[in-house]
Amino acid sequence: MAETRALPLKRLTLPSGAGVALWLAGPAGPGGVPEHLWNTLSRGEKDRANRFRRAEDRALFGLTRGALRCLLSEATSVSAEKIAFAEGPHGKPRLAGTDGPHFNVSHSGCWALIGFSGSRDIGVDIEFMRAAGGELDLARSFFSAAEFRSLKGLANGMLLSSFYKIWTCKEAVLKAIGAGISEHLKDFSVELTEDGYVIHPEPNYFSPVLASVAVQPAEVPEGYAGCYALA
Ligand SMILES: CC(C)(COP(=O)(O)OP(=O)(O)OC[C@H]1O[C@@H](n2cnc3c(N)ncnc32)[C@H](O)[C@@H]1OP(=O)(O)O)[C@@H](O)C(=O)NCCC(=O)NCCS
Repeated sequence: MAETRALPLKRLTLPSGAGVALWLAGPAGPGGVPEHLWNTLSRGEKDRANRFRRAEDRALFGLTRGALRCLLSEATSVSAEKIAFAEGPHGKPRLAGTDGPHFNVSHSGCWALIGFSGSRDIGVDIEFMRAAGGELDLARSFFSAAEFRSLKGLANGMLLSSFYKIWTCKEAVLKAIGAGISEHLKDFSVELTEDGYVIHPEPNYFSPVLASVAVQPAEVPEGYAGCYALA
């Protein structure tokens, strides 16, 4: 069985009884993927890693997939290199050939967020908060009208963090459902509250599950936004 204590992983503290485990994997850097993790990857995963142009992106993908394999190995008692994946209709990976936890991963910058859930489908998202200056234009194009209104008029620092909170929440919700991301971004609005997020589905929303999705912020490194959702 894999020894996950020796991996570049930090388990996040969550309220007891959450039914969820979250880990941060990283930081990935130009040094590459630790050899014992690289050796767990399939031929296809190594080929995919090698197609990334930037060393940092190659390292983050390899480290995330290797860490995921080791965590799944610990949860299933299948050796890390023998873990097999299948994909849902929109590309969401799941375990093949063995029972195990629901899981999801997200990577951005030099960190990855990995989430496991015992009984509900899980989606996670982490984003490096790049201050590129086009947040309102992106929100106008991709977010709902209510979300755009909530961002308009915010001062720069607040705009950046609120934009990324909404973004990560939307992605985590859609990833929990395993939906295609781009076609459903406007099917619900995210309201930011003091405690986290409230989801408001639009009329005729695409999935009956949407109304009961639970979403929580995740404690990610400074400069990042993170979120997990249970469908
Ligand atoms: C993968 C996707 C669902 C999200 O992309 P992303 O934010 O760039 O990537 P993340 O790092 O958060 O997540 C990628 C991981 O999610 C998983 N994933 C892929 N498709 C998925 C799906 N339909 N549902 C859930 N998880 C999925 C995979 O494990 C993938 O990692 P891997 O390729 O290393 O195996 C992508 O298919 C997509 O549609 N992106 C569109 C992004 C967008 O429109 N953003 C607008 C901002 S609101």
